[in-house]
Amino acid sequence: MTGEPEERPPPLSAVPDDDAEQPEQRAPLFEGVDLRPPPPGPPPRRALRRSDLHEGAHVDGAEIPDRVWVRLQRLYQQLTTTQSQRDEAALDDRLTRRRHVTRTNLVAVVSPKGGVGKTTSSFVVGDMLASRPKLRVLVVDTNPDFGTLGKLAPDSHASDHQLTDVIGQMDRIRSAAELDPFLASTPTGLHLLAAPQRPELMEAMSPEAYGQLLTFLGRFYHVIVLDLGTGLTDPLAQFALERADQAIVVAHPTWVTMSTVLDALDYVLKRLGGHQLTMALNQAPKGAAVKPLEAKLANDSLSRQVTIPTDQRLAEMLDHGTYVAEQLRRRTRVAIKQLALAVADQLV
Ligand SMILES: Nc1ncnc2c1ncn2[C@@H]1O[C@H](COP(=O)(O)OP(=O)(O)OP(=O)(O)O)[C@@H](O)[C@H]1O
Ligand SMILES: [Mg+2]
Repeated sequence: MTGEPEERPPPLSAVPDDDAEQPEQRAPLFEGVDLRPPPPGPPPRRALRRSDLHEGAHVDGAEIPDRVWVRLQRLYQQLTTTQSQRDEAALDDRLTRRRHVTRTNLVAVVSPKGGVGKTTSSFVVGDMLASRPKLRVLVVDTNPDFGTLGKLAPDSHASDHQLTDVIGQMDRIRSAAELDPFLASTPTGLHLLAAPQRPELMEAMSPEAYGQLLTFLGRFYHVIVLDLGTGLTDPLAQFALERADQAIVVAHPTWVTMSTVLDALDYVLKRLGGHQLTMALNQAPKGAAVKPLEAKLANDSLSRQVTIPTDQRLAEMLDHGTYVAEQLRRRTRVAIKQLALAVADQLV
């Protein structure tokens, strides 16, 4: 809750008039210009390339000279960096690669169990996709029962608004700038849309209402992550899985939770209509306890899988609204990057 006046929705008088948009009132843009491809003739002259003027390798705007001293420096760096640093750098490289997303992708984050980290996974994956491949990402709190997502934003980036406010203004919001005041965000550029906090509004949020909202929000984002409540068979979870392009199933890596989750996986796959599934084994204890489970999942090859350790620092950062992925310890940070990469690799 910021209570700042600039967080309010924009004045509706600022919305442009419909009539001004009509194409027949505009002068034809290319009148008199022949837009057909030119007739065959001699090959066109080669365009001037950047490499014609700038020789040598450049990184971040600075030239990397190819001299013995520089080669020695690079060799020294290679010898002094650890394998895990190199692995993380390779992971960063893959995550940062430009993604060609052809439409708005819906990612449903689900679990048959409560409190296992659905909201946490939605938030950290969304944050990583916004900060690394720099996609436009929105996480929508789709928990029908007092969702907590909106509260993870830093106080300076919070919003008093909820998704029911967007539904109320949907026919008047025509640009990303007009949508912004309804959203909380993070410093990386992730957007968050909070669930209503009044029970009568929560009850009014049917799958049809979410459907309309998502169709509207899809105009503004590459990826929309749905942070669902507990359960797979209620109408909202069914709707989300049927509409999603991929799902993350979150579970604690304990026998009790995992045996339940494995029983439910076929159901999730059927609803998804494909195999775009990632399993997040969240809050894994230290030590080798998770290894047999990871081996079983790898053997079944039903889904990709990522193990996220229990990390008190992560819980504290989320609670304080001060989450910065790069400040986490390496094991947690790398796991979050792997989860985000699994999602990014399955974008369509
Ligand atoms: N890897 C982790 N390490 C430490 N704490 C974690 C981790 N993942 C989640 N938590 C903490 O566990 C609690 C529950 O997490 P979260 O709210 O994400 O679960 P949920 O599945 O969304 O719960 P619900 O079913 O109520 O929606 C939170 O306090 C969160 O900070
Ligand atoms: Mg939750």
